[in-house]
Amino acid sequence: MIFSRITGTGHYAPERVLTNADLEKMVDTSDEWIRSRSGIERRHIAADDETTADQAEPACRRAMEAAGVGPEDIDFLIVGTTTPDLVFPNVGCILQDRLDIHGCAAMSVETACSSFIYALSIADKYIRAGEAKCALVVGAETLSRIVDWTDRSTCVLFGDGAGAVVLQADDSTGILSTHLRADGRYRDILTSTGGVSQQNPPDNLRAGYNLVMAGNEVFKVAVKSMGRIAEEALRVNDIEQSELDWLIPHQANLRIIQAIAKRMELPMEKVIVTLQEYGNTSAASIPMALDIAVRDGRVQRDQLLMFVAFGGGLTWGSALLRY
Ligand code: UT7
Repeated sequence: MIFSRITGTGHYAPERVLTNADLEKMVDTSDEWIRSRSGIERRHIAADDETTADQAEPACRRAMEAAGVGPEDIDFLIVGTTTPDLVFPNVGCILQDRLDIHGCAAMSVETACSSFIYALSIADKYIRAGEAKCALVVGAETLSRIVDWTDRSTCVLFGDGAGAVVLQADDSTGILSTHLRADGRYRDILTSTGGVSQQNPPDNLRAGYNLVMAGNEVFKVAVKSMGRIAEEALRVNDIEQSELDWLIPHQANLRIIQAIAKRMELPMEKVIVTLQEYGNTSAASIPMALDIAVRDGRVQRDQLLMFVAFGGGLTWGSALLRY
């Protein structure tokens, strides 16, 4: 039986930091409100000329170095992102060029904050089917470009960054299963106000791409759907939640994460939380959190990990894996 196993991880966060105190000067908010409602203290924001591919590139280089693979080894490249550099070429092709990876399939998937789990699931299927041996799977975002910096209910939550993993065929263990779901009936509670084929307000192009969210409603569906999809992964693999070493959830809100941990009867000591420093980096949040926890020694080889994510669409998903 072929599994796909994460053999290297990497992440990148832009240099510029925006603190809650900085936001107090921009909108009617307070450090106390942001911390108590979301757990977020700071977020990293891309430089004006820094794109999603610019952030993904160093994350990929670090993951490839950690896995000990070169550009010639990569035979599948997939990027999860909501904020691609261009309509086309896709971010995967831009990265191919930058990283000197030539000829393999390269694509991006846009399922908002669940994009990394979706990308991981697709890459896992290709490896299990024997059609790829070494995949580069990326989650990268420049959310700051679509955040409405005058809307206090959303602008305090998001940040930029990138994370990447190398996924390689392994005959012993690795990803046990992935589970993906979506429900377009909830499309309006977390959406963007413009796009490519949909008309934008002609006199305000940037504002036409703003992210809008009914936070309260999203919160409730997020807890329910992520809880259920995590439980599904455990059930399918006949694994008890107590056997999990780490839960690595999408970093949207500390209260959402705490509610999922409570539902799964997991102590917060077994949950990786990085949102204090980075905010919600959408598709990048899980691979960033994974790499941070791998590099600081919390996540160890052979431990059992659960990824669970949730995003606009609405989309959600989980992955259960032996690291
Ligand atoms: O990546 C996936 C997508 N995102 C999420 O999963 C986020 C899901 N939702 C959330 O994280 C939370 O709902 C929020 C953090 C967005 C909001 O927290 P909440 O506890 O649900 O607050 P609320 O929306 O019910 O707002 C409470 C009050 C309101 O004032 P009134 O109506 O009670 O007077 C808001 O106007 O807080 C006000 N408020 C703020 N006050 C200070 C909203 N944003 C802010 C702010 N600063 N930044």
